[in-house]
Amino acid sequence: MRLNSPKINIIYKACMKASKALIRDFGEIEKLQVSSKGPGDFVTAADTRSEKIIVEELLKAHPDYGILSEEVGVINKSNKDQRWIIDPIDGTMNFLNGIPHFAISIGFEEKGEIVSGIIFDPIKDEMFFAEKGAGAFLNNSRIRVSNKKKIKESLLVTGGPKFNSKKRDSIFEEYIKISNITDAPIRKFGSAALDIANVACGRFDGYWQWELNYWDIAAGLIILKEAGGYVDFIGSYEKSSVKKNIIATNSNIHKELSDNLIKKNIE
Ligand code: IPD
Ligand code: CA
Ligand code: CA
Repeated sequence: MRLNSPKINIIYKACMKASKALIRDFGEIEKLQVSSKGPGDFVTAADTRSEKIIVEELLKAHPDYGILSEEVGVINKSNKDQRWIIDPIDGTMNFLNGIPHFAISIGFEEKGEIVSGIIFDPIKDEMFFAEKGAGAFLNNSRIRVSNKKKIKESLLVTGGPKFNSKKRDSIFEEYIKISNITDAPIRKFGSAALDIANVACGRFDGYWQWELNYWDIAAGLIILKEAGGYVDFIGSYEKSSVKKNIIATNSNIHKELSDNLIKKNIE
């Protein structure tokens, strides 16, 4: 760990503890896939287990801090100034199918702003982390966004739409529109947290997605900003605290990507 920060240390400990259980559970998935019952219930249990470990660790460190976590929801509701924002497994569909691309994501929010965060991919053993003003890191190395200047030469990633999205058609239409501007096919990797982390370390040049939840991207916000990237939110969810439509880029291509999204039709 290159960052000597109390908050990062707390998140780190929680992540490491939860990831041991997750790695073990992931090892069971292959066997369950061929069983008649399938891995569905087991994955739900793994998700809950990971969340329980994280929540317990964070509460042990700061019993009075607020928590917003995907499965349990809100804890210590009255504390809105200091909150942990947790996604115990981001990339559940990958996890469920035995695809080694998922992460634990934990951000720390102070007075409405995410100031520290970790995204940990336990299978690849990649830990992305950042704290406001102290830079962003992948394991022991400082990371920075790419230097691409145009969408045409960029590698973009997106996700969704969800099966029950009312905006499905517009989202697909937008996908086609952006695909026609880039030389490289757009990627879809199935973990919003890792999508942003991968923009932060320069593997992708930009990411956008409609209808996310705050816990999918909270830690990613600070990691990307500290790596020199730019994030903003678009559309009607802008003022909502949980639902988010995000554009996250290396900064250089931000305007071009933003200008080309079909925002008006999707809002
Ligand atoms: C999902 C992933 C996925 C995104 C979905 C999210 P989950 O989170 O981040 O990439 O497309 O919108 O819900 O369910 O795996 O925690
Ligand atoms: Ca998620
Ligand atoms: Ca999740």
